[in-house]
Amino acid sequence: MSDLLEVRVWRGGAEGAFQPFQVPRRPSQTVLDVVTHIQRHLDPTLAYRFACRVGMCGSCAMRVNGTPRWTCRTHVDKVADDGHLEVAPLANLPVIRDLVTDMEEFFSKWTRAKGRFVPTRTRADEPAVVEPTSAKRQEADAGIECIGCAVCYSACDVVTWNPDYLGPAALNRAWTLVNDVRDGARADRLFAVAGDAGCHACHTHMSCTEHCPKHLVPTKSIAGLKRATTGALLTLAPWSDE
Ligand code: SF4
Ligand code: SF4
Ligand code: FES
Repeated sequence: MSDLLEVRVWRGGAEGAFQPFQVPRRPSQTVLDVVTHIQRHLDPTLAYRFACRVGMCGSCAMRVNGTPRWTCRTHVDKVADDGHLEVAPLANLPVIRDLVTDMEEFFSKWTRAKGRFVPTRTRADEPAVVEPTSAKRQEADAGIECIGCAVCYSACDVVTWNPDYLGPAALNRAWTLVNDVRDGARADRLFAVAGDAGCHACHTHMSCTEHCPKHLVPTKSIAGLKRATTGALLTLAPWSDE
């Protein structure tokens, strides 16, 4: 195995190009380590984003050899057997510069999908008791660990075809809250995700699920939203809360 990695890194905005670098190969090296080496030792103008380095903040996602990944938890040995790496910004998001994408659109879709918890109790009330074994709690728990990395969003062809589509992360969040029995906005949320750019636009390609680094299953969440929105329509209780 060569002691050097051959790394091509995207430079510039949407009309940019790949720039080659050589980076020393090290044991247990992550893709984020490689990008950081380039920025610290070879070209300080390289723009990229990270924060926690331990898979919690969701800020370090990039495309690595064409596949969207969280780079702080992606070991070079797993993705660059032949010593070649190509690192690019996430797809389906505007490129600000180099490896940094503009996340505004991604998070504004969480807002459109009513991805914020709406409390039904005040601090003066007793805390709600939600049984860990209840079906709704388990549905909510299944999607709650999302770190907002946009890997799934970058992997989704429907987002590419229809940039208005809310996408797997926002819909996964909506399903989590639809199942949160403490939340008071179920009807509004179902209405928000039922339109043309909502859950029914998903083609069930599973690409989001295959790529999610947290092993979440947005496809299942979206299927739940499809059932819930259809059920709400059929009962014609105009989007009424249960
Ligand atoms: S399952 Fe739906 S949201 Fe996920 S990648 Fe496929 S089309 Fe996109
Ligand atoms: S669902 Fe998974 S891939 Fe998508 S933003 Fe959340 S953690 Fe990232
Ligand atoms: S740097 Fe926080 S998830 Fe990678």
